[in-house]
Amino acid sequence: MRKLIVSLTLAVALAMSAASAQTVTVAAGAVGQELELVQAAAARYMEQNPGVTVNVLDTPDMADDRLGLYLQFFEAQSPEVDVYQIDVIWPGDLEVHFVDLFEYGAADVVGEHFPAIVENNTVDGRLIAIPWFTDAGLLYFRTDLLEKYGFDGPPATWSELTEMAQTIQDGERAEGNSDFWGFVWQGNAYEGLTCDALEWIASNDGGSIIEPDGTISVNNANAIEVIDLAASWVGTISPPGVTGFDEEAARNMWQAGNAAFMRNWPYAYSLGEQAGSAVAGVFDVSPLPAGDAAGGTPAATLGGWQLGVSRYSNNPELAADVALFLASYDEQKIRAVEGSLNPTIMALYEDEDVLAAVPFFGSLYDVFINAVARPSTATAPDYAQVSSAFYSAIHSVLTGQEDAATALALLEFDLIELTGFPTATP
Ligand code: GLC
Repeated sequence: MRKLIVSLTLAVALAMSAASAQTVTVAAGAVGQELELVQAAAARYMEQNPGVTVNVLDTPDMADDRLGLYLQFFEAQSPEVDVYQIDVIWPGDLEVHFVDLFEYGAADVVGEHFPAIVENNTVDGRLIAIPWFTDAGLLYFRTDLLEKYGFDGPPATWSELTEMAQTIQDGERAEGNSDFWGFVWQGNAYEGLTCDALEWIASNDGGSIIEPDGTISVNNANAIEVIDLAASWVGTISPPGVTGFDEEAARNMWQAGNAAFMRNWPYAYSLGEQAGSAVAGVFDVSPLPAGDAAGGTPAATLGGWQLGVSRYSNNPELAADVALFLASYDEQKIRAVEGSLNPTIMALYEDEDVLAAVPFFGSLYDVFINAVARPSTATAPDYAQVSSAFYSAIHSVLTGQEDAATALALLEFDLIELTGFPTATP
């Protein structure tokens, strides 16, 4: 009898550990169609791997909030989440919490991905996360309205955008749409504003906040000029509420047909073309405008998300298998075709189905490979603080609390204190 109880207890314990060992939880984004796409992918994995359960944990839309949630799991060294969707700016800040995927089979597949992203995700020779999708800022524009108001194509410079947006807005309002705005973008005080403002500054030949060599460059005349221009949009061609907008807030206004231009990531393309969208068939995308300064060129911020396996996972082998499956060719292809999420696997940019579904993956390929990186590698493990100082300074200008010259001078002091880096000699 005693033997029976012992063996029963053992069997139950084994069954329990087997059950928990066969469950993988993926913390994933839910912006646009992201959640539905990853849930469908998890279902495909489970179909191919009976006995494994893949749970998808829905996480906040704004990168800063998502990071806050992840830090709570890491702080507790929690095994609850096995795979984390991490931002392209996080490998340096978060590397201690992840296993080296080179030790879990990634070495065989990394060669398929953009080398720059693999390099970004590799810290001290350890692959912190496998690239999943990449991102770059784009200008969405209404082809029907450009034609209606006699414009040949999208604006080449920010001042052209300002004028075109104003003309279209005035015209649409005069025809009775009082909800219509010229230009929507991401102006809330969060990581998204860092992306938009880096685009303005880089496009105006104003550098990239902190340069890869570790010099603080943000306090310069070209940056000041373009940030003041952006502040002039708030309440004129952009709604006053834009200083509280994230990606989805901008997309909702755009997709309802109430904006002439939108700055957003590629994911908004496929949603804009879907049934029920007021802009289906009447919009296109282009590179963002160049700054008006001499030497101004269009600039897109590099974004994108990776999959890393937690060091605190109870089953890193299985978790890595799930991560590599989600980031595989076939899965990235589905995400590209159905969700216009940019693959990180180079060959997919030559895949006919992908190019048919999202033509600009081909026509704007250069935008994706030349995107400007945020200074996350140079400032790790303090990038999150650097970015928060930056977007707070920009936000203070957008909301009229400071002028750009004052805000960027103060920001320079903060960045020196935070990083110990020198300033760039003008
Ligand atoms: C997108 C980008 C990401 C960026 C975020 C900011 O999700 O892919 O890199 O940090 O937007 O809102």
